[in-house]
Amino acid sequence: MTAQTADIIDRAIEVLRENDRGDYTVPTKGLYPFQWNWDSCLTALGQAHYDEARAWTEIETLFAHQWPDGMVPHIVFHVYNDGYFPGPDVWRTGRPIATSGITQPAVAGFSVRRLFDRATDRAQAEMRARALLGKVDAWHRWFYETRDPAGEGLVAIIHPWESGRDNSVDWDEAFERVPTEGVEPYERRDLQHADAAHRPTKEQYDRYLWLVQHFRSLEWDNTRLHDASPFRVVDPGFNAILIRSCADLAALAEELGETEIAAANRARAEKGLEAMERLWSDSHGQYLCLDRVSGELVNSASIGGVLAVFCAIPQARAAQIARTIEGMAPKARYFVPSHSLDDPRFDAKRYWRGPVWLVVNYMIADGLVAAGETEVAREITASSLDLITQSGFAEYYDPMTGEPLGGGRFTWTAAMVIEFLRAA
Ligand code: DGY
Repeated sequence: MTAQTADIIDRAIEVLRENDRGDYTVPTKGLYPFQWNWDSCLTALGQAHYDEARAWTEIETLFAHQWPDGMVPHIVFHVYNDGYFPGPDVWRTGRPIATSGITQPAVAGFSVRRLFDRATDRAQAEMRARALLGKVDAWHRWFYETRDPAGEGLVAIIHPWESGRDNSVDWDEAFERVPTEGVEPYERRDLQHADAAHRPTKEQYDRYLWLVQHFRSLEWDNTRLHDASPFRVVDPGFNAILIRSCADLAALAEELGETEIAAANRARAEKGLEAMERLWSDSHGQYLCLDRVSGELVNSASIGGVLAVFCAIPQARAAQIARTIEGMAPKARYFVPSHSLDDPRFDAKRYWRGPVWLVVNYMIADGLVAAGETEVAREITASSLDLITQSGFAEYYDPMTGEPLGGGRFTWTAAMVIEFLRAA
């Protein structure tokens, strides 16, 4: 390891420790002062490099707040903090420790397997992975039961926040169906911590909140929310993460002798992979979202359709995605922009409408390596490391200039940097 690599790892660990609250980690102080679902599962991978026990705890804490129906909420409000909106008083989900009422990308199955495979303390890994297996399986079952009621093999998100890509261009059209009237007065807190030009707009916030109020009026009953939501979108990236987690959980369960869990998750992954084909677009060279209300593919070349390579899509599709990423090189200085630069709706600084996110880079690079597209994966890793060397551990980055955007000292960025350096 070179002195420069060692220094970057030390600085990344400093960020992780700074945001560590004992048994969970906040994404960054100020902007996100609680535990977020997919942040935590990816953060655990970085923590495992210096403290395996602590990494397991990160995921266990999240699952301690799983709902009785199997859902794992996107935020756990462990402590009081009025620096974030919308807080527990808006969600009102009635949980013993307050949580939000929607979910987030299901990276847990992938992370648990990766922690297990790399663990040096084998006895601990076996005990802790075994205890998590049934919980992750219940979450996967919940997804297909409640978000794929017609059994199509693909799940829908019912709120843009579930995708993690809050203001992607992908949602613009479907979001038009979500009213803005009747939203209770509110005051955003994110703008106290980040530049308004890098965040979602007021109109988007109105719609985010309309959906929260609507689901709350249905008492967060997941047997009703899917059909009752005017926003139901099948996101290829979201489904790819779930499919990958099902496949990884199946492999782990097999190894631990839990054959029923293995079989159920293998079947989910196989069905999902087959159904993904419905989302492929030859003209875009990537997958697209499907609006489940209109039944139409969404004409929006976002990172969601590139991230699909994270699951075991056919080799020819992975190769086409690799060529699509290469095609961005003359236009973007840094890989991988969260939206196509050929689309007039691309916005280099606004959250998920253009900026580069290292977590997504990590999953894309991982999928490309598995598909044998190692050169593009190497370029994505190099770009990611250039960004943090130039601009620090930001939430996201301008793909043209590398400027750091959003929140600073960001936990999952630091975790991913440790991961990238391990693979470099
Ligand atoms: C936010 O508040 O910005 C989050 O992305 C919602 O989870």
